[in-house]
Amino acid sequence: MKIAIYPGSFDPITNGHLDILERATSLFDKVIITIARNSTKHPLFTEEERLKLMREAVKQYKQVEVDSFEGLLVDYCRTKKAIAVVRGLRAISDFEYELQMALMNRKLNPHIQTVFLMPNERYTYLNSTIVREIARLGGDVRDFVPPVVKAALDKKFNKKKR
Ligand code: COA
Repeated sequence: MKIAIYPGSFDPITNGHLDILERATSLFDKVIITIARNSTKHPLFTEEERLKLMREAVKQYKQVEVDSFEGLLVDYCRTKKAIAVVRGLRAISDFEYELQMALMNRKLNPHIQTVFLMPNERYTYLNSTIVREIARLGGDVRDFVPPVVKAALDKKFNKKKR
């Protein structure tokens, strides 16, 4: 059984993340999409809220599991018996940071491979910060996030349904 880990902040999960996840499911028997608890970020959604949104957003994928973790990614991979880490590459600007992480993870555990997947080009300019910003300022995010996330953003920012 080939298991991959798809880590991130997912604050919140977007259609760009789902695009990467779907591609990963065609390569691996099981994909664990997991929230890395990161003390340097101040998330809009709590971990519990993010997990709930992710579970709802990925429920159509049978081989996908939703989780969260603390500590080193390579240690988490080992406990989950994963052989790979999946990361999305949206643009050249992602590359340097991703290369550094991939090489450091390889140094920490040479048995775990990092697999980079390119999302559909319509998601290359998307990130969670931009989605949060648009929602906060009353813009329409329905093209960028699953309906359950749009509803949660509307609720967070106390907006009436459009
Ligand atoms: N579609 C839309 N947005 C995407 C995306 C996609 N396909 N891929 C990435 N993004 C966005 C995210 O939404 C996020 O946006 P934000 O910063 O505006 O919230 C941004 O790109 C960063 O991506 P994310 O996947 O959340 O990565 P991160 O940099 O927050 O975290 C970890 C990277 C979790 C993999 C890394 O910190 C980690 O491994 N942590 C564990 C500790 C560890 O092992 N450290 C050593 C690593 S060498």
